[in-house]
Amino acid sequence: MYFDTHAHYGSELYDTDREELIASMPARGVELIINPGCTLESSQGAVALAERYDHVYAAVGVHPSDCHTWSDEVEQGILALTGHPKVRAIGEIGLDYYWKDNAPAELQKEVFIRQMEIARKTGLPVIVHNRDAHKDTMDIVRRYKDVRGVCHCYAGGIEDAKILVKMGWMLSFTGVITFKNARRALEIIKWLPMEHIMIETDSPYLTPEPFRGKRNDSGYVHLVSEKIAELKGISPEEAARITTENARRFFNIPG
Ligand code: NI
Repeated sequence: MYFDTHAHYGSELYDTDREELIASMPARGVELIINPGCTLESSQGAVALAERYDHVYAAVGVHPSDCHTWSDEVEQGILALTGHPKVRAIGEIGLDYYWKDNAPAELQKEVFIRQMEIARKTGLPVIVHNRDAHKDTMDIVRRYKDVRGVCHCYAGGIEDAKILVKMGWMLSFTGVITFKNARRALEIIKWLPMEHIMIETDSPYLTPEPFRGKRNDSGYVHLVSEKIAELKGISPEEAARITTENARRFFNIPG
């Protein structure tokens, strides 16, 4: 059974079949899902969805692409949600310098730091998004030695990976590792100790091969796990078991 550690079921791409799709996951081998928010509203939606399904948990936070929505009220709203029993992380948070329409780096960093503070205060782990902002992301992460986290859809280099592993962080991988042009992430997975690896879909995007381009869902997460098994030279069952154990430990959901 698999643990999809990152899927956005609040996306409008699921408006026609969200409930059936989520309900079908245990029968498709997916025993647990983390659904992260990107704004206060979508974080509230993630909590509401988690209340309806035993196998769905929530993360709450403001995504770097949405950090122009940040305010004191939003901060208080996110903090209030952290008391909910199905909230298991602060996320997704981080920095994204790829999209030119995103808020300036200074605001992104401030919103990221404020949410690292919430993680420190609540003891929850963080789910970090980093696109084209490796140095600034690492600078902030390294200031919070008491905060645990995962770099979702890891796209950094081996040197940062080594630092993160030393800090006890997790690296999580998506369907991108099944794409034909994947190279660096594959080298990192070969090196990375198995107990630091988690799997995710980042649904509705990043659908693994051979379904690339179609809408993604947690039912495809086995393809990510199988690719990791191949790279590590272990059986698919072993990769599924270890990545699920890792995620249960990280999100504090004992089996
Ligand atoms: Ni995401």
